[in-house]
Amino acid sequence: MSVARNVGFIGAGNMGEALIKGLVTSGRLKADQIRVSDVDTTRLRSVEATYKVLTAAGNSPLARGAEVIILAVKPHHVEGVLAEISGSLDHLPLVISIAAGVPLARLQNGLGRPVPLIRVMPNTPALVLAGVSAIAAGPQAGTEHVAVARLLFEAVGRVVEVPESAMDAVTALSGSGPAYLFLVMESLIDAGVLLGLPRAVARTLVIQTALGSAKLLDATEAHPGALKDQVASPGGTTIHGLAVLERGGVRGLLIDAVAAAARRSEEMGMR
Ligand SMILES: NC(=O)c1ccc[n+]([C@@H]2O[C@H](COP(=O)([O-])OP(=O)(O)OC[C@H]3O[C@@H](n4cnc5c(N)ncnc54)[C@H](OP(=O)(O)O)[C@@H]3O)[C@@H](O)[C@H]2O)c1
Repeated sequence: MSVARNVGFIGAGNMGEALIKGLVTSGRLKADQIRVSDVDTTRLRSVEATYKVLTAAGNSPLARGAEVIILAVKPHHVEGVLAEISGSLDHLPLVISIAAGVPLARLQNGLGRPVPLIRVMPNTPALVLAGVSAIAAGPQAGTEHVAVARLLFEAVGRVVEVPESAMDAVTALSGSGPAYLFLVMESLIDAGVLLGLPRAVARTLVIQTALGSAKLLDATEAHPGALKDQVASPGGTTIHGLAVLERGGVRGLLIDAVAAAARRSEEMGMR
């Protein structure tokens, strides 16, 4: 199945560029199947020069010619963009929004007409093509639209499908997740420095340990607890470290952190 004949990006910032890069470098789309508009013309020219994609003279001309429109502007710019393009959607393109916390109903209202809509929550590792994106389809989106969204977002990592009601949980877990993991990695690097390791060495040790542990968990059917147990020998070093983490309530803290982020995502979606 082909991804789509032409895809329009409104917004070519961090996320827009990551997607464009993934689509072009993976060969899923040819550069001339992608058209981009962005109010920041420096940004627009830079993306055009780097990936050889086409540009549009504004959001409405872009929307008129696109089979798929990807809204990649900040959430507070979404409503303005929807108002701008709502008159240019007679051909009923698939509209995909990656704006965090903007519900499908609000997108549909902003467009003022029933078009196939899909909401996607990617995360920043998409910048290195190792992201994970959750996609939730609106009422007008059929399986063929979901398949197109899946193909597009698989260019920057893995894709899971969820009902929209799960988007707050997704936002809290994989959307915010990189920040939690960066905090943990930063702390572990500092620990290495405290123990006398050069920072660069500590950084390499921590990064590869995180990458390798994620790969090991992914490659096996094992429960993460079983893999943890393999490292912790009786009376050894690891179990002493784990005991400190358990005394500090690290499990409960992580669960509470994700729950707090989900509550905040829900509040923001209601505004
Ligand atoms: N970054 C993340 O971790 C992440 C994760 C998941 C989802 N998202 C979502 O992805 C979306 C984009 O985030 P980002 O980090 O890529 O933002 P960004 O770097 O600010 O990129 C957005 C781009 O759109 C431009 N823009 C603003 N208003 C516009 C308009 N009316 N028409 C055309 N272009 C316009 C911006 O220009 P100016 O800078 O001049 O305003 C900017 O170049 C957000 O809605 C965010 O919630 C981001």
